[in-house]
Amino acid sequence: MATILVNGVKREVQAPSDTPLLYVLRNDLELSGPQFGCGLAQCGACSVLLNGKEVRSCITPLAAVGDKEVTTLEGLPTRWAKQRGLSADQAAKTLHPVQETWIEEQAPLCGFCQNGMIIKATELLERVASPTLAEIKEAFTTSGPSPHLCRCGSYTAIIQAVQRAATRMVKRSDVL
Ligand code: FES
Ligand code: FES
Repeated sequence: MATILVNGVKREVQAPSDTPLLYVLRNDLELSGPQFGCGLAQCGACSVLLNGKEVRSCITPLAAVGDKEVTTLEGLPTRWAKQRGLSADQAAKTLHPVQETWIEEQAPLCGFCQNGMIIKATELLERVASPTLAEIKEAFTTSGPSPHLCRCGSYTAIIQAVQRAATRMVKRSDVL
């Protein structure tokens, strides 16, 4: 048995230590944000944050989590609320700005890749407040083990959503 910290909550799981984190999240913890795409770290659909860094959960064994914090798509509102010091009440009504702008830009088409796109965007914007277009493209193409792939081709909307989220996150940080 292992205890891991997921979305701010300690969770006990019975899975063997070499079980891919993706299976633990989806099958044991019923978190369906991370998707199974390739299973080979080649598409990005399964991405989660591990201590704020994007990892491909399909190739990350449970043993590699240790005491690091896992954040999934489901945990982004809480993560943002914590970063901004919001109350539990406010947090329950909050989406992460990246999620808000994803909706506003209607970025998903079939939606299958979008978990990884949103996780990658969040990682980028926590690291770089106002990324250039080149930095956004670099984040999605060369900063991980492989590019984040979207078979529907929603890349333009994704870039627009990232740019809009960057502006919003900077503005909201200003009013803290
Ligand atoms: S399912 Fe993990 S990278 Fe494709
Ligand atoms: S929206 Fe369909 S794969 Fe990206």
